[in-house]
Parts: sequence; C-alpha cells; structure tokens
Amino acid sequence: MRLFQLLVYKFLAFLIDTVNGYFNVRRLHYVREVLEVSIGILAHQINNCSETMAKRKAIFTFRPFEVCDVDYRNSIANRERVGSGRCYPKARSGHRIVCSDSTVYCFGGFNPNNSLVRDGNNDQREELYLFQELWKFDIVRKAWTLLLDSNNELPIELASNAMLLYGDTILVFGGTGYPFGVNCSNRLHICQPSQGSKDLMEVQVTGELPPPQYGQAIVIRDNYLYTIGGTNGFDYTLDVHRLHLPSKTWECAYECKQNIREDPSGRYRHELAYDDSRIYVIGGGTSDSVFLLANIPVYDMKTNTWENVATKPDPLVELPGIPAARKCHSCVQIRTHLGLEVIVAGGYDGVNYFRDIWKLNLSTMQWQRMQKSNLPFPLFFHDAAVTSDGCMHIFGGIKFNNNTNVRTNQLYKMWTTIPRLSVIAWEAILHYIPSLPNRTREELLEAGIPRQFVDRVHE
Ligand SMILES: *[C@@H]1O[C@H](CO)[C@@H](O)[C@H](O)[C@H]1NC(C)=O
Ligand SMILES: *[C@@H]1O[C@H](CO)[C@@H](O)[C@H](O)[C@H]1NC(C)=O
Ligand SMILES: *[C@@H]1O[C@H](CO)[C@@H](O)[C@H](O)[C@H]1NC(C)=O
Ligand SMILES: *[C@@H]1O[C@H](CO)[C@@H](O)[C@H](O)[C@H]1NC(C)=O
Ligand SMILES: *[C@@H]1O[C@H](CO)[C@@H](O)[C@H](O)[C@H]1NC(C)=O
Ligand SMILES: *[C@@H]1O[C@H](CO)[C@@H](O)[C@H](O)[C@H]1NC(C)=O
Repeated sequence: MRLFQLLVYKFLAFLIDTVNGYFNVRRLHYVREVLEVSIGILAHQINNCSETMAKRKAIFTFRPFEVCDVDYRNSIANRERVGSGRCYPKARSGHRIVCSDSTVYCFGGFNPNNSLVRDGNNDQREELYLFQELWKFDIVRKAWTLLLDSNNELPIELASNAMLLYGDTILVFGGTGYPFGVNCSNRLHICQPSQGSKDLMEVQVTGELPPPQYGQAIVIRDNYLYTIGGTNGFDYTLDVHRLHLPSKTWECAYECKQNIREDPSGRYRHELAYDDSRIYVIGGGTSDSVFLLANIPVYDMKTNTWENVATKPDPLVELPGIPAARKCHSCVQIRTHLGLEVIVAGGYDGVNYFRDIWKLNLSTMQWQRMQKSNLPFPLFFHDAAVTSDGCMHIFGGIKFNNNTNVRTNQLYKMWTTIPRLSVIAWEAILHYIPSLPNRTREELLEAGIPRQFVDRVHE
C-alpha cells in the first residue's frame, strides 16, 4: 500500500518537474517541495519500519505541556556557519532572558568555570566569571547570535538583574557584579536591538532612586516601571519603587516596615505576576530562607497597599497540593481567553532542588500541578520567557544531576497552553521545510504564508 503511494507520489513529482521544465510556475515548486517531504517520509517508513524514534522525528507532532529540548547545535543555520566565532552562549546561571514571538534575548550570567574554559589562557581573573554579553536566539532558525559584548557599552553588573521586553525595547535594571553584593546597581539600561542599537544605554533619571540591589523584579504598568524587593547582600527588602517613564522620575511608593506593620518580608530572587491593578510576588528568599507559595503577597497599585492572599491547593495531587517554597525559580504569565495564568518552574529552597512545573490561575488563586510538564532535571538560577502564543522558553541555570551542580546552556521550550490552530500549522511547516526561513519575504507571502508568520522570519 505504502509502496503504491510512494510510486504515485514519485510519478506526480516527475510530472511537476516536467511541467516546470516548460513553464516555471512558482506555486508548483512549493507543491513539489511538499511532495519531496512526503516521499522522504514514505521511503523512510518503508525502509525502516522498526525505527519508531526516527519516525517520531520525521513526522510532526504537536506536544503541548511537554518540556522539549531545542537542539540548536544541530540546526541548519548553525551548521552553515563558517569560521570559529562563538556559535552559542556558554553555560551560565543568574542571567536573564526575555522573548518576542521571533526572538529570545539573553543578558549576563555567571559561571565560575568560565575562566578555566576560555581558550588557551590560564587567566583566572574573577571578572571573567561574569558574561558581559547580550545574545539573541532566532526562534525560527534555531540559531544564536552574539549581539553585544565587552567591546560595546554594557553594564558591569551582570548577575541577578531584572529584565523586561517592552515593545521592542529591552530594559535591564539592577543586578550585581562579582563578588555578589559588592557592586550592585540601581541603574536602568535600555537597548533596541531591532533598531541596531550597539549599546545598553543608561537612562538618565531624577527623583528618589531605589538603593543599589540585585535579585529584584520589575514590571511595567500604566507608564510606571515598578521594582520590588532585592538585596545588597545583607539586607533584603520588599519595598516598592517606581519610575514614571514619561518624566523619568523615581519615587519610593511603599517602604515595608515589618516592625510596625504587617508588611510582607524582604526577599530576593522572587518573581512577579500582575494584572490590571495588582502585582503578585511569587516565592523568593534570603540567603538562608525561602518563602511559601501558599500565601502570596499582593501589592495593589491603585491603593498602594499590601495584602496577603491565600492560594488554593490542586485537589488532584497529594497534599499540600501547592508548590514547595522556593527561590531562584522561573515564572512567566500568559493571557488566554479564560484569563491570566502564571507558570512557575524549578527553583530550590537551599536544600532541595525542584523540577516540577505549576500553573496558578490568577482570578481564583488556584494552583494546578502540570502533570505532563517536568524539567528533565532539577534546575535553578535559570530563566524563562513566553511568546504571545504561550510557548515558554527556558534557558541555562544550574542543574542538579547525579548529586552535583553543573551550569548548563540547554534551551527548552514548552507549550503552556493549546495555541491557535494556525500557530500549530506554522510549527508543522517549519518542521517539514527547515530551509523555509531562507526564502525572501515576498516569496513567503506569495506562497500563502500569513503575514504574521512571515514577520517572524523577517523582522
Ligand atoms: C533504521 O534507523 C536506524 C537509526 O536511525 C539506522 O541505524 C538503520 O540503519 C536504519 N535502517 C535502515 C534499513 O535504513
Ligand atoms: C566596583 O565599581 C567600581 C566603579 O565602577 C570599580 O572601580 C570597582 O573595581 C568595582 N569593584 C568590583 C569588585 O567589581
Ligand atoms: C480560572 O478559574 C476560573 C474558575 O474556575 C475559570 O472560569 C477560568 O477559566 C480559569 N482561568 C484560566 C486561565 O484557566
Ligand atoms: C554519577 O557520578 C558517579 C561518580 O561521580 C559516576 O561514576 C557516574 O558515571 C555518574 N553517572 C552519570 C549518569 O553521570
Ligand atoms: C566546573 O567544571 C568542572 C570540571 O569541568 C565540573 O566538574 C563542575 O561540575 C563544574 N561546575 C559547575 C558549577 O559548572
Ligand atoms: C540558504 O541560502 C543560501 C544562499 O542562498 C544557500 O547557500 C543555502 O544552502 C540555503 N540553505 C538552505 C537550507 O536552503
């Protein structure tokens, strides 16, 4: 049966080749390409029926909620590269990533092994522990590019910064140099890579600046950049400072005073979620403690007040049904037609390392353990970012494997929700035609690829 199908396909291919020999019809070229793929799959199946893994690789399957390794080392774009050049970022922790629908950006990071692995020299200077780098990962072509490094104007605080992508502007705030806590930052840097920015420019600000800290977290709401929490290595706060973006003026909106009020405890390496009026502080810790996720400090931007909100456990998993207390985890949020959801992955509590992934429904504060979703190994000091379609990317961090801690440069992706059918179809097309990103914008549009996806290939 398959053999017959293969013969029919081959005949069709021959027919199209003949027609194209006389009239060069572009649309037929695409049909021919699809045929070629089908022929490849069929031939593969006929020749190698037992090899289920190979089949799985050959045939596209959409795997929502599964953490999948992004094999950028073997991508076409990477293999085509000539010369030595740095092809992808080295293993790191304490870096930050953000993403759009086409690109992941990675800033900074730390690896004490770094100076040992630098080619050829026995240089062990401590500043080499940090990565003064801004990398870009092309999601469509699966290829990394080093955008900026120490030849450009970059901050020297490169670990546990806070980072955001706002429109096409990257914002990097705070962070620390090495040794941690010695040189902390309260500066805001911005960069527009799509406009060809060659530096991370410091924003000139006025007003009452937040103290220099690291491990803080930021969000932008209603023209304000909010920064919450952080540490200078000794003191941990959960103060709220905000920068009015149009006037570039800082103010301290809320100073936590645990000794006189019931204010939430200071912390670092927590993460923030937000809705229209409130900011939710997810986890975090100090050098020797971590915070529970059963109660979440919630800051109301309108009333300038803190409130402690209890979360609801997942009834489908064993008690407590709530993710364990953690810091150095990752956290992204998505907006589906059902509302806002927050996805928390990995982290550690100083003793235990986590590989579980949880969802929090922000309207009901209901936790749900994502049963199909697990990191391949416990991971912390990594970072995650999510596309508008809900595809979460997780990069780097320290993995706990075989009783040792090793920094990694692996990139994972996980669909946190079932996206639109067109998005799944786009993934399938990229799977079957890996050379597609090579086509010009006009060719792609003419082939009927919707503009929103063409824009992801050609920014
Ligand atoms: C089947 O696939 C395996 C693994 O990819 C390969 O080693 C083997 O040679 C294949 N067999 C045939 C008959 O192609
Ligand atoms: C801290 O920053 C100052 C000024 O930028 C610099 O001179 C000093 O070397 C830095 N210290 C460390 C430990 O990086
Ligand atoms: C959150 O929970 C409510 C009530 O169960 C539900 O209506 C809503 O769809 C949920 N939101 C998401 C994003 O799942
Ligand atoms: C785990 O560590 C032990 C001892 O260091 C080593 O012998 C073993 O090969 C390691 N196993 C794996 C899977 O890395
Ligand atoms: C540093 O490198 C050594 C040797 O390559 C390795 O055993 C160790 O796990 C690495 N440590 C980290 C934190 O990456
Ligand atoms: C992409 O285009 C370049 C230049 O036209 C060509 O050399 C390369 O082989 C193409 N790659 C693929 C995967 O088609």
